[in-house]
Amino acid sequence: SQIRDFQQTLLTWYDNNGRDLPWRRDHDPYHVWVSEIMLQQTQVNTVIPYYERFMALFPTVEALAATPEAKLMKAWEGLGYYSRARNLQKAARQIVNDNSGQWPQTVEGLKDLAGVGPYTAGAIASIAFNQPVPAVDGNAFRVFARLLEIDLDIAKPQTRSAFEKIIARIIPQDRPGDFNQAIMDLGSSYMTAKNPDSKHSPVKAFNQAYLDGVELQYPVKSKKPK
Ligand code: ADE
Repeated sequence: SQIRDFQQTLLTWYDNNGRDLPWRRDHDPYHVWVSEIMLQQTQVNTVIPYYERFMALFPTVEALAATPEAKLMKAWEGLGYYSRARNLQKAARQIVNDNSGQWPQTVEGLKDLAGVGPYTAGAIASIAFNQPVPAVDGNAFRVFARLLEIDLDIAKPQTRSAFEKIIARIIPQDRPGDFNQAIMDLGSSYMTAKNPDSKHSPVKAFNQAYLDGVELQYPVKSKKPK
């Protein structure tokens, strides 16, 4: 089937060409979570050394929960958006103090953690806990909008759940975390916003917008959502 062909093409490409990133060395939810929060507003190459230092300073969720705020803020210096760091500690304390060190493993449970929205919850649930759920960030909106010529306006809040429903039918049950991360890698290599290189993309045969010569029209994003 078309979906199975797509999954297999994408995952084979990812197995051979996925980026070797420090937070991909295991599936520890603490590692996945901290990296996803850092990556929300910061580029991968900037995040890497911060992530390595952060894990040296705060190797476990317990260490993060217990650290003095000043030490945490010092480790975050240069990354900006400091509310991310404050929410990290808040969530670490939720896990350690309110949940006896246990991670919620579902999207709904993860969304109760401070600073964890639908994207981050989907990323942790799929990468750390193997749940077949989408992780829809800007990359996923763009990649799927182009592959399937989805005309929905991504500036509208209700569009997210429409994308999630579509992606839920495509995500492989056995490798959801790798699938979501392969989409991220596709979005930052062949299927970038401004200068896509779809001609050389491993999934060009599945990229309807490229095949129709209208790639840059996707995703649709209005200035004024209503
Ligand atoms: N951007 C957001 N999450 C990412 C991840 N897990 N790997 C690479 N880039 C990302």
